[in-house]
Amino acid sequence: MVGNERLTGFVNSLYKGNTPFLEALEREAREDDIPVIRKDTQAFLRFLLKEHDPGSILEIGAAVGFSAIFMAEYSSPECRIRTIENYEKRIAPARQNIERSGYSHKIRLICKDAAEILPALQEGFDMIFIDAAKAQYPFYLKEADRLINPGGLIIADNCLQEGDILESKFAVERRNRTIHKRMREFLKEITASERYTAAVLPIGDGIAVAVKDK
Ligand SMILES: C[S@@+](CC[C@H](N)C(=O)[O-])C[C@H]1O[C@@H](n2cnc3c(N)ncnc32)[C@H](O)[C@@H]1O
Repeated sequence: MVGNERLTGFVNSLYKGNTPFLEALEREAREDDIPVIRKDTQAFLRFLLKEHDPGSILEIGAAVGFSAIFMAEYSSPECRIRTIENYEKRIAPARQNIERSGYSHKIRLICKDAAEILPALQEGFDMIFIDAAKAQYPFYLKEADRLINPGGLIIADNCLQEGDILESKFAVERRNRTIHKRMREFLKEITASERYTAAVLPIGDGIAVAVKDK
């Protein structure tokens, strides 16, 4: 959690819950130590889905499908979602959860390495949600920039790295230094771009949101 824990707890207590299916899925995922978007990130994403009303979404990092099902629940019936996951152990549960959610018609799970599939994608998306390997965020941004439609929204989770992002690289554990360096590159690039209007917000573990010029 990037912000003040009590304050975040208070704000989270204000939000109405999700559907019983999503609440159960989130609980199961947390019990199994599977990462899923946090409550405050969910509230922000729900807001963006309503406000932006995307017709197509690309998600990088499905885990067991929670956020894809969440986006299916809170987007218009016409919206189509593609979500990418390459970790063998998560693919079968993700497929099963999508099936059980009743949103198989909206969600397509792509079981490949994002590094392989992203360069092969061609069509435009109205929203791209980046939530996979943190050290790959500059690469995901390059691909998202190519794939996002004019006026489209790029959203990236876990950008502030539990606050580590503001530390010098020497204060960060050695094994996290590449992530630290690449995440700073990503944040600089997305905020400095002439073609995007971006905001970096201390919601959840830090979220960056950028709208591409029309
Ligand atoms: C933080 S989790 C995603 C959580 C999910 N968006 C949710 O909130 O329900 C990140 C996922 O990205 C996947 N991932 C990491 N690197 C990847 C890659 N190169 N290609 C595809 N998936 C990848 C991991 O296996 C992991 O399941």
